[in-house]
Amino acid sequence: MSLHPIGPPKSREFDDLYFSADDGLAESEFVFLAGNNLPQNWLDSDRFVICEMGFGTGLNFLAAWKLFEETVQPHQSLDFISFEKYPLNGEEIGLYLQPWQEVLNGRLQQLLTLYPPIIPGFHRIMLNERVTLTLIFDDVNEAIPKLLADVDAWFLDGFKPATNPEMWSETVIENMARLSRKGARFATFTAAGKVRRDLAVAGFAVEKVAGFGRKRDMTIGCYKGDGS
Ligand SMILES: C[S@@+](CC[C@H](N)C(=O)[O-])C[C@H]1O[C@@H](n2cnc3c(N)ncnc32)[C@H](O)[C@@H]1O
Repeated sequence: MSLHPIGPPKSREFDDLYFSADDGLAESEFVFLAGNNLPQNWLDSDRFVICEMGFGTGLNFLAAWKLFEETVQPHQSLDFISFEKYPLNGEEIGLYLQPWQEVLNGRLQQLLTLYPPIIPGFHRIMLNERVTLTLIFDDVNEAIPKLLADVDAWFLDGFKPATNPEMWSETVIENMARLSRKGARFATFTAAGKVRRDLAVAGFAVEKVAGFGRKRDMTIGCYKGDGS
């Protein structure tokens, strides 16, 4: 993975940015939090489970953690699971998320303190008594069939399907259906027709809506099946 040292990290392999060059945190909040109808959807949940494709810098995770603690009651907990095939190291994450260090209010530092060594496999990190991060350093196609979880919200943030079709494979989408609770929601920055069709075939109601900033469209939806 090759990274530019200034501005949002860019993957040369996938010809794509990790997050918006305009405002990465605002993009996370718009696409993945509002796109999954958060905070409303976790208000009545004792334990809310989010699963993400592509941890990258962890910005989506940090945005979710922040909003969660700002909006829930003390007894509620957040379980955040994220797949990452090409993990960044802590130094890179600290560098790229530096613009939001203050607004994240200690959470970036806490993540970096507990960030695991880059060893393939499952890493379970208790950020505090209420927030747990399970980082899965592996190809999502290898790891997702082994996962057991009842997912309430999906953050589909692999690089764009045109350059990274593996992140949007049948295996991934079929396992999303297997792991979704009834009514589980998903959100993604892409509006690619194939992704929308494959999600619909797997049992998701799929909606194309306005995207963030200069992006015309994105996709949101929910699982129509019975769930686990
Ligand atoms: C757009 S970036 C994610 C940005 C991230 N959510 C953030 O907040 O910084 C996409 C991520 O997906 C990861 N990725 C790409 N292909 C993958 C695969 N097959 N399995 C797991 N992770 C993959 C990339 O390494 C990259 O970190």
